[in-house]
Amino acid sequence: MADRSVVLIVGANRGIGLGVVQSFLARGWDIVATARQPGAATALQALAGQNPGRVEILALDMGVPAEVDRFAASLAGRIFDAALINAGVAGPAHRTANAATPEEIGALMFVNAIAPTRLGRLLLNNLTSGSGVLAYTSSIMGSVALNAGGHELYRASKAALNSLSRGLYAEMRGRDLTLLTLHPGWVRTDMGGSGAPVGVDESARGMTAVIVAAAGSRRHAFLDFQGKELAW
Ligand SMILES: NC(=O)c1ccc[n+]([C@@H]2O[C@H](COP(=O)([O-])OP(=O)(O)OC[C@H]3O[C@@H](n4cnc5c(N)ncnc54)[C@H](OP(=O)(O)O)[C@@H]3O)[C@@H](O)[C@H]2O)c1
Repeated sequence: MADRSVVLIVGANRGIGLGVVQSFLARGWDIVATARQPGAATALQALAGQNPGRVEILALDMGVPAEVDRFAASLAGRIFDAALINAGVAGPAHRTANAATPEEIGALMFVNAIAPTRLGRLLLNNLTSGSGVLAYTSSIMGSVALNAGGHELYRASKAALNSLSRGLYAEMRGRDLTLLTLHPGWVRTDMGGSGAPVGVDESARGMTAVIVAAAGSRRHAFLDFQGKELAW
């Protein structure tokens, strides 16, 4: 993986993450992809087989704090042109604060907001100075300004991610990096459901284009997969 640009994609074995792997491969980038169960990540394994030497698959469960820390430490000295922290969960099926348990909220907030922040912070030294991009797959549902109600727990977890990413950006001053908080669209995945209007390929190609275009901007922006600026 020497001369090509390299992207780290966390949560890459299905859905949008897998689509983003394909999209970066099509642009000629090399990929470091994570999956909770790398041995069982068949679609990702197939892509690795079809692109010899270009897709490295590593294990990472974002729900386990020590694993997040160990994963970041294992990357010491490696440099990425971009990193997309994409793993996320919908949260409890009842979707309401009135039925929620502390354990459910802990798991949702940890995977969607705390672990991405923790990992992003630990990866800052792994990003190319100047053109490096750290990106999160957030959601328009994390916008407080655009909150029309419903899915309140998931919304809160993505709003927390947005807030934490702003705090991280403040720490990034002087590091010469770009931070993106992205909305992939409402996408036909296990999470988005079969009635969603946007396909994985369209979302992934858009996310990839937005990440590549933002390199060097040194901004913190909340953008959708078409590059449209969203209200926080
Ligand atoms: N689909 C939409 O309409 C939509 C809209 C806005 C934002 N998003 C966001 O987009 C991202 C991807 O969603 P998706 O639609 O592709 O969902 P998905 O098909 O359900 O895929 C979720 C991905 O996250 C991984 N993941 C979940 N929990 C994890 C954990 N504890 N550790 C590591 N990986 C974990 C999954 O791995 P496993 O296979 O191991 O579970 C899978 O790779 C999420 O952050 C989601 O919130 C989705």
